[in-house]
Amino acid sequence: MNTRRRWLRLSASALALLAAVTVVAEREQQKEPPYPQSLFAKASPDDYMGDKDCTEAGCHYPHADNFSRSPHAPFMRDPKLPIDKRGCEGCHGPANPHLEDPQKIFSYSDSKPADIAAMCLRCHADTMRLSQWHRTQHGKADVACTACHQIHWEPHKEPPARGLINLGSLRAPQTEKEPQPRRLLKFDDPILCSQCHQREANEFRLNFHHPVPERRLECSDCHEAHPSKAAQKRFRPIKEMCVSCHPDKAGPFAFEHDPVAGWSGQGCTECHRPHGSPNPKLLTASSRGLCSQCHTDKAATHYPGRTCWMAGCHAAIHGSNSDALLRRP
Ligand code: HEC
Ligand code: HEC
Ligand code: HEC
Ligand code: HEC
Ligand code: HEC
Ligand code: HEC
Ligand code: HEC
Ligand code: HEC
Repeated sequence: MNTRRRWLRLSASALALLAAVTVVAEREQQKEPPYPQSLFAKASPDDYMGDKDCTEAGCHYPHADNFSRSPHAPFMRDPKLPIDKRGCEGCHGPANPHLEDPQKIFSYSDSKPADIAAMCLRCHADTMRLSQWHRTQHGKADVACTACHQIHWEPHKEPPARGLINLGSLRAPQTEKEPQPRRLLKFDDPILCSQCHQREANEFRLNFHHPVPERRLECSDCHEAHPSKAAQKRFRPIKEMCVSCHPDKAGPFAFEHDPVAGWSGQGCTECHRPHGSPNPKLLTASSRGLCSQCHTDKAATHYPGRTCWMAGCHAAIHGSNSDALLRRP
């Protein structure tokens, strides 16, 4: 085939492809975007009234007043921002129509979690995209951004006692002068998470536990509520997560203990419970029972009455560089 004909054929198929893409793109456009986006898309410049009227008309005294103490406030006052991202209206939508019909405003208390997420993510796309949010466990379960984040400053009420790990000094701040939870969270991390994850929080009451109630670790050190700029660096498979804080267990060892290496199975959690355990060292079972789950042949007759990992026995249980039977490091 001569090059000219081939070129023609190629451009014909390219044109067909382009047409198909345009049709798809048009269909995409016809699909109604999430409600908050269409609210802004349909607004004309006259629909915006600016912060002065929201705050000075006196209609919203407590909210207007306590918003000025929110970390959002200094950013959103910037007059260089486009009008639809500025001040109160950046989050509540154009406010002029609302003077005639009080319903015509984006109210968080009356909105669906999915619409709230779309509203927040108009500006927080560098934290995550809407599609990413809907793939998270919290997004799928329809938990609203505002279930965890407090946007208007509010003197924090005592959290309900439900699900809390040993409260002790974990009282939430009551006055503006006390340090507020980071990242605009409603409460500090373990208190917040334990409101809804009572079962997991209770595991930290067991005698042996990761020091979360002692405030040396947070739930977010091991979990991500959603993708975030900080968590991108932290989130990873279980073994990698464990050895980031316990690097001496990472290996590689000349003689690896199969379940620790984690080639198959769950790695560290094959023998350890991640939150807490009635057994020392967070082990899933006490003494020999732990090992005989897999080494059934050694259950009763192999040095009966002793712990498998005591001195002289398999003390290098995670792996060894000198002994195939894992007795010394
Ligand atoms: C960064 C986003 C944001 C900005 C900016 C903002 N708000 Fe809000 N507003 C919220 C959220 C979220 C709630 C729900 C309660 C909460 O989380 O604090 C809320 C709640 C309210 C409520 C109670 C009704 C409702 O929607 O639940 C009023 C009234 C209100 N805001 C007024 C204002 C005023 C007035 C301003 C400007 C001074 C303002 N807001 C700026 C996010 C915002
Ligand atoms: C109009 C734009 C805009 C909207 C809408 C908006 N934010 Fe923000 N938000 C910002 C800016 C700007 C900052 C400060 C800079 C930063 O940290 O990204 C900020 C900061 C934050 C922070 C603190 C970040 C940190 O690093 O500590 C959180 C949390 C947050 N916003 C959550 C929300 C939630 C939840 C909503 C929806 C109720 C929301 N934002 C709606 C613009 C917005
Ligand atoms: C289940 C609780 C929870 C929900 C629901 C939640 N967040 Fe967060 N968010 C957190 C926690 C915890 C952090 C702190 C993460 C960290 O530092 O690792 C955070 C951090 C942030 C930050 C700080 C910046 C960053 O990238 O780290 C922003 C912005 C934010 N969230 C926005 C949102 C938005 C928008 C939604 C809804 C789409 C949302 N969050 C829903 C718990 C939650
Ligand atoms: C407002 C309630 C609420 C809060 C607050 C909350 N969660 Fe959740 N979380 C849920 C729901 C609902 C699910 C969906 C699965 C379920 O029902 O357990 C979930 C799922 C999860 C999962 C996945 C569980 C699984 O079965 O795979 C983890 C991990 C998690 N949350 C951690 C956290 C952490 C860490 C925090 C604090 C930063 C937190 N959650 C705060 C309600 C909440
Ligand atoms: C030292 C790390 C670590 C800390 C700290 C931690 N977790 Fe976990 N969590 C894990 C691991 C690992 C799993 C198990 C995942 C698996 O086996 O698939 C898990 C599982 C979970 C699950 C899912 C349970 C299920 O049935 O699948 C939830 C919910 C959860 N954790 C919530 C929390 C909460 C709430 C806190 C803080 C009070 C917390 N975690 C603190 C490591 C941790
Ligand atoms: C963010 C850091 C961090 C992560 C991630 C982490 N740990 Fe820990 N772990 C700690 C701290 C801190 C202690 C308490 C040590 C102390 O008291 O000196 C601890 C204690 C332990 C102990 C008990 C040690 C003893 O001497 O009693 C075991 C076992 C353990 N971790 C296993 C794990 C496993 C398995 C994982 C993964 C599921 C994991 N850790 C993830 C920080 C972490
Ligand atoms: C085959 C079971 C098994 C597996 C798998 C396992 N461990 Fe252990 N681990 C143990 C036993 C048994 C002990 C108690 C050793 C002792 O008391 O001397 C222990 C103790 C620990 C301790 C506390 C004592 C110390 O040596 O610091 C940490 C931390 C720990 N393991 C982390 C991990 C991590 C991280 C992983 C995954 C890479 C892991 N373990 C996988 C059985 C296991
Ligand atoms: C989750 C299963 C599992 C658990 C639990 C487990 N092991 Fe193993 N272990 C293995 C596998 C698989 C090998 C690889 C060799 C094999 O095929 O038997 C191995 C190898 C060994 C070896 C090397 C010698 C040999 O037989 O190849 C020793 C020693 C050993 N384990 C001791 C222990 C002790 C002590 C415990 C309890 C702390 C324990 N194991 C817990 C699965 C396990």
